[in-house]
Amino acid sequence: MKKLKLGVLISGRGSNLQSIIDSCAEKSYPAEIVIVISNKPDAQGLKYAIAANIETHIIEHINYSDRESFDKDLNATLYSSGVELICLAGFMRLLSSWFIEKWPNKIINIHPSLLPAFKGSNSHAEVIASGVKISGCTVHFVTKEMDAGPIIMQAAVPVLQGDDEDSLAKRILVSEHKCYAHVIHLIALGKINVKNQQTVDISSKTIESLIYSPSLK
Ligand code: GRF
Repeated sequence: MKKLKLGVLISGRGSNLQSIIDSCAEKSYPAEIVIVISNKPDAQGLKYAIAANIETHIIEHINYSDRESFDKDLNATLYSSGVELICLAGFMRLLSSWFIEKWPNKIINIHPSLLPAFKGSNSHAEVIASGVKISGCTVHFVTKEMDAGPIIMQAAVPVLQGDDEDSLAKRILVSEHKCYAHVIHLIALGKINVKNQQTVDISSKTIESLIYSPSLK
């Protein structure tokens, strides 16, 4: 089986990376990780990649004077590894317009809220402060505007009485791991296409699997 070649970009913990590694380990899974790139040399996720015998590469942003020269090296590394889909998994760098134009509809991200609500890096705290009762996660294509590209999959996750940022993040993370691997699977099978700049074209049969709502327990 021809497998979709993934490049996973990380900056830290790497739990989403690990869940993708686990999915890729299944023989029938239609994707494989060909490279993991971190902008931080001490990212824990690098250890998971090394343990799985995946090529790793560190491109430290602090060594670059501007965003575009960092992105040029990132782009060259991804191209030379034959990457076909870039998966941002806790990658804490904004990508330049130049880079995003190089990879149209070939970059996906996972965000720990129900977009378009609670964009940015402080979503759990904002969710709790707002009093909403349902949060979740979103897998979306990456466009020039942060956390705003076409939405592919969402999971609804309850916000419970007494939650703090950590307890909510932990509950949402369980769904993140399910959603990210599932979306990659569907993209690899060619089941997800961007219709216009904002919506994703999904057959009615597939759409049911792209709305995930774990129970309140
Ligand atoms: C996840 O919550 C993801 O949604 C967000 O950053 C976090 C990364 O976690 N973009 P991990 O490094 O995958 O454990």
